[in-house]
Amino acid sequence: QTRELILAFESSCDETSVAVIENGEKILANVIASQINSQKRFGGVVPEVASRHHVEQITLCAEEAMTQAHVTYADLTAVAVTYGPGLVGALLIGVSAAKAIAFAHQLPLIPVNHMAGHVYAARLVKPLTYPLIALLVSGGHTELVYMRTAGQFEIIGDTRDDAAGEAFDKVGRVLGLAYPAGGKIDHLASQGQDSFHFPRAMIKEANYDFSFSGLKSAFINTVHNAQQRGEALSHADLAASFQASVIDVIVTKTLRAVKQYGVQQLIMAGGVAANSGLRDRFRQEIAQRDLELDFVVPPLRLCGDNGAMIGAAAHVLYAQGVRGDAHLNADPSLSF
Ligand code: KG4
Ligand code: ZN
Repeated sequence: QTRELILAFESSCDETSVAVIENGEKILANVIASQINSQKRFGGVVPEVASRHHVEQITLCAEEAMTQAHVTYADLTAVAVTYGPGLVGALLIGVSAAKAIAFAHQLPLIPVNHMAGHVYAARLVKPLTYPLIALLVSGGHTELVYMRTAGQFEIIGDTRDDAAGEAFDKVGRVLGLAYPAGGKIDHLASQGQDSFHFPRAMIKEANYDFSFSGLKSAFINTVHNAQQRGEALSHADLAASFQASVIDVIVTKTLRAVKQYGVQQLIMAGGVAANSGLRDRFRQEIAQRDLELDFVVPPLRLCGDNGAMIGAAAHVLYAQGVRGDAHLNADPSLSF
């Protein structure tokens, strides 16, 4: 088999990452320069700050990835880059860097959709079997995607308001937790009980859409009312109650979709896929209901934003003949 090596760039949000992927499934390098420490001070991602970081980091990440992978530009088959969705200024840094390298070394350029990257991260773990459903849960997205075959994405469910990760971050802020709060809420939740019984929005509706802003408001009202009464609530119970609501809705609706679409593989990806309560609940329900379902969750490092998933997606696109040219531009609101 020929060795197809893809150098892949990701800079859509607050992680600068460059990876070298062999044949779409083997990670030779996956360098991730996180900006979490500098963004923490602002309680979220500030686009200007993100762009500046990408500019500083991207060449260093690329050089580091090539060194770790023990490859030279002459060994590469193609250069891939995320061109959307994301922050326009952040995306442009990756797109410019990838274009420069592709044209300087006369390599094909492959434009990759960030969300497709999250789905294809699972390829780095095991082969995908179609048809499948992918649940994408991140700071910016909560989507259920049906894939009849490779390269075909149909969004069957989406969030009507806040993304799941965004809700975690917002309620975390109310509890005084630093951004991003998802992991901290996850940890707190493991020590508490679902004693508040927050609403399970849209759980019974005959669609696969989600809504988390009502839950967020219920949470904030509960905390503020208690503050006014001078009463201290258990942060662990608040976290556990919030998380139980998110998990109930996501797991119920996702497994309903799995059944209706008759798929045998379920992929969960995006930063929120790191949530231990969510992973455990999926595994429990799948076992309890005796579902013949292959549940694939990439390891934590591949769940968040990274270049490796872009390389995995790019390999599929490369085989399909997808190419970008000098006019490739960032597309901040790109959908499937
Ligand atoms: O995919 P990602 O790294 O970036 C994008 O948004 O594209 O996802 C980041 C999100 C943040 O909102 C963060 O709070 C959330 O993932 N997150 C978690 C956990 N770890 C990260 N949410 C719940 N539980 C976790 N363990
Ligand atoms: Zn992402």
